[in-house]
Amino acid sequence: MRSLVRETRLVPEQLVYPLFIAPGTGYRREIPSLAGCFHLSADEAAREAAEVAALGIGGVILFGLPKGKDPVGSEGYAENGVVQEATRAIRAATPDLLVMTDVCLCEYTSHGHCGVVDGEEILNDPTLDLLARMALSHARAGAQVVAPSDMMDGRVGAIRAALDGAGFQDVAILSYAAKYASAYYGPFREAADSTPQFGDRRSHQMDPANVREALKEVRIDVAEGADMVMVKPALAYLDVIRAVRESVDLPVAAYNVSGEYAMIKAAAAKGWVDEKRIVIETLTSIRRAGADVILTYHAKDFARWTA
Ligand code: PBG
Ligand code: ZN
Repeated sequence: MRSLVRETRLVPEQLVYPLFIAPGTGYRREIPSLAGCFHLSADEAAREAAEVAALGIGGVILFGLPKGKDPVGSEGYAENGVVQEATRAIRAATPDLLVMTDVCLCEYTSHGHCGVVDGEEILNDPTLDLLARMALSHARAGAQVVAPSDMMDGRVGAIRAALDGAGFQDVAILSYAAKYASAYYGPFREAADSTPQFGDRRSHQMDPANVREALKEVRIDVAEGADMVMVKPALAYLDVIRAVRESVDLPVAAYNVSGEYAMIKAAAAKGWVDEKRIVIETLTSIRRAGADVILTYHAKDFARWTA
């Protein structure tokens, strides 16, 4: 009877699994800050994607660890960049799996900021061109969804125009619309080597104290052409997910980020929490708050546990 009357259901099709793409071939190494997740070369990523598809998971989102970094993040929009190569490999191996790519410069810039900088200042408008080039290079490689996570103003419009201008009308934009300046990204920055070399991201990411501002950011991104909007992180922002859900008709995604994952993994390793139960409870709470789609490092475990 409990199952009959359950109000919230979550299935693996609603989850997106993040992959971290490294250069080379045959490379597969566990990420110390994200136990159970791996740095993967393009060929290994294709193998991983096949496993993800077989588990019935809705898609993957790709992050890149380039061979080299420079002040303008050139490898982020190189045709043969790590994410571009992995996208091609995954699309060829598993044509039915949805491939999303993260669009941001911080993994590719020598200073670790999400845009080009002048001294200690991030320049918004000059960054838009580079983000649009990156999104376009991902689309050319076969990405069906591009996901800008940079939080520069105007980037959704710039990316939409670039995609449409090159014949990629069908490539969708999942905008990280309400992305907070959060301490929960620590393990990811370790994994992606994207910690800013000076300053922080508070000039463009949101103040954790604000919710009206999140709705404003969402409205702007929708007006610029976003197809789905994301709230990030998830757990400390369930009220924001709910508010966004009630204010737009588009699909709402939530990112169950690296720090949320790492806290559960660490406590589970100590035997202090029951990992399976706490993961199902956590993901269900994000879904209950209103997320249609959840990006999570737990995706493969969840799919196995609920099969
Ligand atoms: C890059 C980006 C970040 C995350 C996703 N894309 C980190 C940041 O903004 O510093 C975080 C994901 C996670 O913590 O799991 N802009
Ligand atoms: Zn960034």
